[in-house]
Amino acid sequence: MSAAKPKPRPSVVSRPAPTPAGTHVEVRVPIPGPRAAEIVREDTRIMMTGTKISPVAVASGKGVWLTDVDGNRLLDFTSGVGVLNVGYSHPKVVEAVREQAGKLMHFAGADYYYESQNRLAERLIELTPGAFEKRVFFTNSGTESVEAALKIAKWQTSRPIVVGLLGGFHGRSMGALTVTASKPSQRRRFDAFAGGGHHIPAPYCYRCPYQLEYPSCDLYCAKILKELYFETSIPPEDVAAFVAEPVIGEGGYVVPPKGWHQAIKSILDEHGILFIDDEVQAGIGRTGKWFAVEHHGIIPDLVTTAKSLGGGLPLGAVVFRRELDFTYPGAHSSTFSGNLVSVAAGLATLDVVEREHLIDAARDRGAHLRARLVELQRRHPEIGDVRGLGLMLATEFVQADARHTPAVVLRDRVIAECVKRGLVVLPCGKSSIRYIPPLVITDAEIDEGIGILEAALTAARAG
Ligand SMILES: Cc1ncc(COP(=O)(O)O)c(C=O)c1O
Repeated sequence: MSAAKPKPRPSVVSRPAPTPAGTHVEVRVPIPGPRAAEIVREDTRIMMTGTKISPVAVASGKGVWLTDVDGNRLLDFTSGVGVLNVGYSHPKVVEAVREQAGKLMHFAGADYYYESQNRLAERLIELTPGAFEKRVFFTNSGTESVEAALKIAKWQTSRPIVVGLLGGFHGRSMGALTVTASKPSQRRRFDAFAGGGHHIPAPYCYRCPYQLEYPSCDLYCAKILKELYFETSIPPEDVAAFVAEPVIGEGGYVVPPKGWHQAIKSILDEHGILFIDDEVQAGIGRTGKWFAVEHHGIIPDLVTTAKSLGGGLPLGAVVFRRELDFTYPGAHSSTFSGNLVSVAAGLATLDVVEREHLIDAARDRGAHLRARLVELQRRHPEIGDVRGLGLMLATEFVQADARHTPAVVLRDRVIAECVKRGLVVLPCGKSSIRYIPPLVITDAEIDEGIGILEAALTAARAG
């Protein structure tokens, strides 16, 4: 397959789509209501301890709106943890899923053939950076996409080490965990099984690990890979790949400074080390580009995607240089790779992103949301930093001291107060909140969310 030039696709709807008139947050019973509370109790009794955050139990969703099991209407700034870029229950995605489910739900795409997965693979080849021949492998999650990318890199280079960033998140399977390092809870008791992973400090300008200032720092946070790590603890000739998110997501929505990607890539190129760009959270239009690495001006060797690719169904992919492909069958595969219904949802999702101009929307609505957050920051010194790209934004909450000590308790209270008032938000990093609404959100809906956030912050501060 060659990297053909993107074909022009018809554009049918211009953004933003109108909010159904009169749609606003409506908290009819205090959250959690009686039904939600019962579900939470039951869940706590029978479900494994995972990563539950807020007592929100949903019944349905449309666009940026969720209805919970007690009839409350909630405004969603999470996109179901970065999945619903096209909004909840997008009619085009629902239609594609219904149609495919009625015809054939599954036929083991890694073992047999069908056309739709070729079409989706072609779309991803077109959309990912790099005008070279590529190959695609479909997965069912972000973790599996990273796992596959790591295996491809290690197989091809026969090198045992992978390097990631402190603060990076790439999934929790044993392979992906070798590069995940955003919280000790993710690695505790597993570290010994997650071998061959090394990490360098993240390029986190707000809290520069070297107490330097950009740009006079001369990108020391990139150069340190060569000047310190490759001189001491990491033999570069043993490194298969370097893995980084274009915006460090779970680790706090940290955007690497301009030039960092180029500096890292040129060090990697000197040593034949592959660059894996983990777009699981930032990709598919979220930052105002198809893939967020386009903001950084480098061409990765492998790109991982998932989350929003399936428009709500489990679907991921790794897209990589053709020459990295396995040379015999069986080194990697998966029964549900390229599941027919997920692929149909994926194709419909990419169409919606394109035809409804959701990439422009991410940029434009993102600019509005950022401006509103910066306004809040001016009034509330607890907001130490506003950062992100497009509609992938976060605020870091800090204490009123010279070191900007992370205000973890306050951040958690703000989230709880937001949820009580009908705005669903997620934490990230040590003391940040991320704002990642579906890309179909309107400015008016953003304003409603900001009003709730401000009320929540005021209540959280009062204690
Ligand atoms: C950048 C990144 N990579 C990988 C993953 C793992 O994805 P999943 O939870 O779908 O396995 C995540 C999940 O948040 C992520 O943000």
